[in-house]
Amino acid sequence: MDRKKKVVIDCDPGIDDCMALMLCFKHLDVMGITAVGGNTALLLTQRNARHMAVLCGHPEIPVHAGYDQPMFGKTVRAEYAHGSSGLGNVTIPEPEKPLCDGHAVDYLIDVFMHHDDVSLITLGPLTNVAQAILKEPELRKRIPEILCMGGSATAGNFSAAAEFNIYVDPEAARIVFESGIPIKMVGLNLTRQNRILPSDVSEIRAIGNPVSDFAADILDFAAGQDGRCSICDACTVVWFMTDDIITKSAKVRVQVETRGEFTRGMTICDWREYMGTVPSEDISHERQFDGGYPGEPNVEVALEFDQARFKSFLMDTLRSYS
Ligand code: RIB
Ligand code: CA
Repeated sequence: MDRKKKVVIDCDPGIDDCMALMLCFKHLDVMGITAVGGNTALLLTQRNARHMAVLCGHPEIPVHAGYDQPMFGKTVRAEYAHGSSGLGNVTIPEPEKPLCDGHAVDYLIDVFMHHDDVSLITLGPLTNVAQAILKEPELRKRIPEILCMGGSATAGNFSAAAEFNIYVDPEAARIVFESGIPIKMVGLNLTRQNRILPSDVSEIRAIGNPVSDFAADILDFAAGQDGRCSICDACTVVWFMTDDIITKSAKVRVQVETRGEFTRGMTICDWREYMGTVPSEDISHERQFDGGYPGEPNVEVALEFDQARFKSFLMDTLRSYS
């Protein structure tokens, strides 16, 4: 049995964040959770994160609150997709598990300055992570890798060009993507290959344990929106758990647009070398022009997804909570 991968999860629960946490608590060694404002306000995302730790049998896992709002620009939320509570139509009592003292940024710095074998998963806007890197630049060398749900190699969702997590705080995303930390990016091009249908929700409902019941309750809202949902964050975390669900990826350079009138928050993936459409010397010329950044491929972009394998993995995991 391989040792479980140690992770810290920065998230904005959020229906799909909750589904991702159900998988992480079973298949990864979760050292801690940091909450960020995103799908809904921080007051709720941190509360929902604490609820998930208790529901999934891990009240000992620390939860710290970080930033509620992005570094610049207006604050946008996704309550249309996650409900005003961030849990669809589900309301929860105040969790018995208290919020940890101390800011999420200081917790992130402490974990990565004092551990060599912990990876970072980000499931929301990148404000906390960017602020931690600005506060302690050593993190650029200390964080071994980031598994990021964000961006897209094709179309956006919050805008034609931009995916929500990046759209909320493009400046933060640019800091993280230009940090030099190895990034595995799971964008909408990947997650849209997944569809959780009302029939899947019925199958989850039939499992009959508190975690699967909660999953069915929150997915009722998400799948009820337009008859299907991708649960993007859950599609992301499986990359750290098994290698037969995300079945193809490519290493390319990715730039984050922060100024475009129509493209702010877009992740521009440079496929030219990957597709062999531009002789590398032309790109090396551009790299010289760019002063070396963002010339080098900096991100592994997930491309192909086995939906059937994912669904059986998800169902088996939910059954394992019985
Ligand atoms: O665009 C999808 C992402 O935005 C997911 O992380 C979802 O939870 C929202 O935060
Ligand atoms: Ca999220």
